[in-house]
Amino acid sequence: MKNVVMAILAAGVLSSAIGPSFAADATDKTVKQRRAYYQVVLSNAGPLFGMLKGKMAYDAAKAKTFANNLKLVSQVNNKHLYPKGSGNDNPALKGQTRALPAIWAAGSDISKKGAAWREAVAKLASVAGNGKDAMSAQMKLVGATCSACHKGYRAKDF
Ligand code: HEC
Repeated sequence: MKNVVMAILAAGVLSSAIGPSFAADATDKTVKQRRAYYQVVLSNAGPLFGMLKGKMAYDAAKAKTFANNLKLVSQVNNKHLYPKGSGNDNPALKGQTRALPAIWAAGSDISKKGAAWREAVAKLASVAGNGKDAMSAQMKLVGATCSACHKGYRAKDF
């Protein structure tokens, strides 16, 4: 019994020792991962923008798949990709990130922008298979939520 208790205690110590390492630091690795996250976003949003603009034929099954993927990706809790100090004002990250320090500044409403995006994407997932017009109308709104966040929190250039 005592051994079991000791083992549980040891496991507790171990997991709390591992725990903090999940809170990623403001490193180039984290920035790479953050940017990779948005590339996954783009890999699903891109074809939907393509269908919206007529650069790609509308396909209900594909639209549904991409919209569902986008919904799942939008629901990822990505706070760990946004450690304080990982903006483009950090000299160590110069040229590697376009994230603006406004993200972490007082009055930042990036969480609200993220919530608006998630909401628009969830709606998209529910209508993406209902024909080109339904998908297009909602995809425009999704695009506006991407832009709204980029406008305040992503620099144009590196
Ligand atoms: C809540 C804010 C927010 C929302 C919503 C958002 N983005 Fe971004 N996005 C960012 C930030 C911040 C960066 C800059 C990341 C960096 O450079 O470290 C970024 C970067 C990107 C990049 C560049 C990735 C790279 O390789 O540098 C792409 C592409 C992108 N976003 C696409 C999208 C699309 C498409 C949507 C909507 C479907 C979207 N984003 C929604 C905040 C957001």
